[in-house]
Amino acid sequence: MCGIVGYIGDKQATPILLKGLRRLEYRGYDSAGIAIMQPDGIFRERSVGKIEKLVGKLQGQTPEGTVGIAHTRWATHGGVTEANAHPHTAADGDLVLAHNGIIENYRELKKELGDVKYKSETDSEVLAHLIASFYEGDLRKAVMKALARVRGTYGLVVMHRKEPEKIIAARLGSPLVIGIGDHEHYIASDPTPMLAYTKRVTFLDDGEVAEVTKDNVQTFNLKDKAITKHIEEIEWNDEQAQKQGFAHFMLKEIFDQPTVFEDAIRGRVEAEEGTAHLGGINLTEKEMRNIKRVMLIACGTASYAAMVGKYAFERLAELPCEVDVASEFRYRDPILDEQTLVFVISQSGETADTLAALREAKRKGAKVRGIINVIGSTIAREAHGGTYIHAGPELAVASTKAYTNMVAILLLYALQFGRLRRVTVATGQRIVNALLAIPEKMQTILKQNDAIEAIADTYTRYQDMLFLGRGVNFPVALEGSLKLKEIAYVHSEAYPGGEMKHGPIALLSEDFPVVAIVTKNQLYDKMRSNIEEIRARKAKTFLIATEGDADIAELANDIIYVPNTMELLEPLLNTIPLQLFAYHMAVKLGKDVDRPRNLAKSVTVE
Ligand code: G6P
Repeated sequence: MCGIVGYIGDKQATPILLKGLRRLEYRGYDSAGIAIMQPDGIFRERSVGKIEKLVGKLQGQTPEGTVGIAHTRWATHGGVTEANAHPHTAADGDLVLAHNGIIENYRELKKELGDVKYKSETDSEVLAHLIASFYEGDLRKAVMKALARVRGTYGLVVMHRKEPEKIIAARLGSPLVIGIGDHEHYIASDPTPMLAYTKRVTFLDDGEVAEVTKDNVQTFNLKDKAITKHIEEIEWNDEQAQKQGFAHFMLKEIFDQPTVFEDAIRGRVEAEEGTAHLGGINLTEKEMRNIKRVMLIACGTASYAAMVGKYAFERLAELPCEVDVASEFRYRDPILDEQTLVFVISQSGETADTLAALREAKRKGAKVRGIINVIGSTIAREAHGGTYIHAGPELAVASTKAYTNMVAILLLYALQFGRLRRVTVATGQRIVNALLAIPEKMQTILKQNDAIEAIADTYTRYQDMLFLGRGVNFPVALEGSLKLKEIAYVHSEAYPGGEMKHGPIALLSEDFPVVAIVTKNQLYDKMRSNIEEIRARKAKTFLIATEGDADIAELANDIIYVPNTMELLEPLLNTIPLQLFAYHMAVKLGKDVDRPRNLAKSVTVE
């Protein structure tokens, strides 16, 4: 996720663009840049770090010009360097482009473009050169020709020195809004940068390209057919706009999940071969076959994602797999060697315990890979390779979308190893197809948000709760329980269903409700028996069950149905109703959802 701003009108563009970038900083802040159309060429300045660093570099100067584009970056391809910061140029600086999204086939395009001198490692710069290669005096046409060749996602703004009174904007998968002022237009990733100037906007839809001048916006689809756009009045204030209308960042991030899940797996699965390709593994196939053991190390929510990964590595790759919380790992004399593959998993890439564990694992000679969200973070840099989860900035302290994408990447690694060992093409294909179907299934669950809210309303009076799950849903229970503790401050415990009778059952009563995941998988009947045991103790039950399972409703006080999927993939879906449940409990109890007491987003002390 990155932020884009563009301006064209009579005012000076620079102050508007810089102010706009500050509003978009929540979308990413590892580097920023600005490009202004000037009579003798396009002025460009970029800087690593937050917007203020860019402002510092301008040294109080305001590059003159009334047309410009700007970008704040959340790195996806290429490290955090000035060269990789946007806007990127092509055609000897005549064309500038700022891009949000991922160009999946950039390697292919690079090959086709042949002898081009690239100044960055980004997929976006390849797109700039591709557009330049099609340019014959009409920038919109060149952009459209280039986009016809692109696989991936984009929110895009482009300018060309030979058409100085024009900005071309295009969208596929990454949002872009056009603000309509008086003889001026604004373009941005969300409405916040323009709210101070206009509340009249049009949202570009996927597959649309807009030619924006001072007085006009013409929108086309990719087949060059003109489209009439509807103008809307925005009522949001700044903060609401950053949250895209959601009441909290956490809720927005829960709703981001279908999109960012696609970002995580895009270009990394091969439907025909029934496998995944994660280059960050940095091992040859022979070396991969030589791995004898996998260890997954993480803290908090990431450690529950790791627990799901354990099931996947053992089932698909027949690789013994251990999960450790990082704070325990290095104090327990772990046995490691070069046939052990260690994954350290972290949203921030800065968690002190996880970093210390990584260093310890390296010292003991293990191969260490990172599964990280924040590009260029310390853990990402110190690991011997690994994979970014592409969840975009996660601002709520309680992790939601990063968890889902960690699970996604672990499943892809397990599949990649599995295909070299025991998984057949047919099984691999079933897994890939099931993964590709996940975003739509997530949407089905998100549509039940109101129903989950109504359920949460009836649980606010309880001080304690038990979460139960079996197999791959045990970590889901742990994560559901953690979310509730973190943001609603309601005490809860999570147990494997079969373990309930060895202790926690003593707690159950009318005042101690149970949240249980009882989806249709190999442990369904066992879990069902556990729920019968709960009902016999008069505890209230909130069940997560599989669509179509009408029978189970007789054991539920409350029930949310989720779509069916392969057992190993269930956590990708089953966690979502529990995230929403914790969220609504916290809101109803009047808690500070995005900034819960005593917690920090990134814990950089041991
Ligand atoms: C903190 C956060 C948790 C997070 C954990 C690990 O405790 O409050 O939400 O799961 O750190 O963070 P990481 O950035 O390493 O995933």
